[in-house]
Amino acid sequence: MAPSRSQTSLFSLLAVTALLPSPVWAFDCKDVMADRQHFDLSKLAGPHVVHWKEEDPAHDMRYKYNFTLDICDKLKWHKGGSLATECHHGARVCGLREDINLAVDRNATITPIDIAGTFTSLSGRVIDAKFELLRNPKSNSDSGREGVRAFLNGGRHPFTKDGLNQRAIIEFVCDKEKTGLEGDEKDDGEREDGDKDDGDDDKKEEKLRRRDDAGKGKCEDTENSLRFCGYQQEDEGKDKKVQTLRLEWKTKYACEDAPSVDGGSHWGFFGWFFIILFLAIATYLIFGSWLNYNRYGARGWDLLPHGDAIRDIPYIAKDFARKVAGTVQGGGSRGGYAAV
Ligand SMILES: *[C@@H]1O[C@H](CO)[C@@H](O)[C@H](O)[C@H]1NC(C)=O
Ligand SMILES: *[C@@H]1O[C@H](CO)[C@@H](O)[C@H](O)[C@H]1NC(C)=O
Repeated sequence: MAPSRSQTSLFSLLAVTALLPSPVWAFDCKDVMADRQHFDLSKLAGPHVVHWKEEDPAHDMRYKYNFTLDICDKLKWHKGGSLATECHHGARVCGLREDINLAVDRNATITPIDIAGTFTSLSGRVIDAKFELLRNPKSNSDSGREGVRAFLNGGRHPFTKDGLNQRAIIEFVCDKEKTGLEGDEKDDGEREDGDKDDGDDDKKEEKLRRRDDAGKGKCEDTENSLRFCGYQQEDEGKDKKVQTLRLEWKTKYACEDAPSVDGGSHWGFFGWFFIILFLAIATYLIFGSWLNYNRYGARGWDLLPHGDAIRDIPYIAKDFARKVAGTVQGGGSRGGYAAV
């Protein structure tokens, strides 16, 4: 029967819209939720790079890391890229490690490391993004800091079944003075703010090595908004290790009273309100028609619930308009007419 078929499609439409809020294999950087707090991080979109150098004097090795992340989208490959120098498709956080053998030839080999993302080619590995407030009572060490901590999973290195799990933990820290793009390095290696000691590699190296000595839990000593804070194996439950990239990102968009980036979030509520209102009216009309059709064998206008009333709407409206117009006219020219 025709009406029941449209009903079915209506209900499947309702079911689909109910499922829309972000599934675990992706998340919307415009609408990050942590303990019922909403954050819009869309201004931090695009690939951003942080660096790290690690020395292993015992083996005459030096490791240079470039970590690239895009919190709003999958990372795109560079022109002419291949899996030799790029992460797998679906990565949102990617590490490129350059191994330099200081003793032998100083030739570098490059290893891409998938840290976080949703990888369809590695079954079951999804980003499974989780967010919590920095002032979460569970971790009392953070008391006094405002912002949101993101847990991004899904990575593994090597990219095989028995590789080491990888993840990224990014702390977005509220800083009203910072947009989050200060000292930003775009993916092509260009600095947004001119950084004077860019060419001074030795000086930088010294600074980095000193930071390493300073111990764990300390972030890179720089004025940049986005800072490297560590890349180490951490315990993940029983007997399980996960190599964790820790970053800190100072930005005003992590403040809980941050002004909305665009008016869009409010439209969201009204948009949903009207969709639901429309669906409710449609359901009522379809279901009512179906009832009238079945019970009373109604046809044409009589199918619609309150068919008479709906049919009369144009006349009622015209009548109402005429009355209003009459009142306004009458009021405006009262003095001109004598009462009869
Ligand atoms: C290192 O690089 C040089 C030239 O850049 C090349 O001749 C040599 O074969 C390389 N060594 C190895 C071990 O790849
Ligand atoms: C890492 O970044 C630096 C600076 O942008 C660049 O010179 C270097 O080639 C990059 N390393 C890799 C392995 O891509």
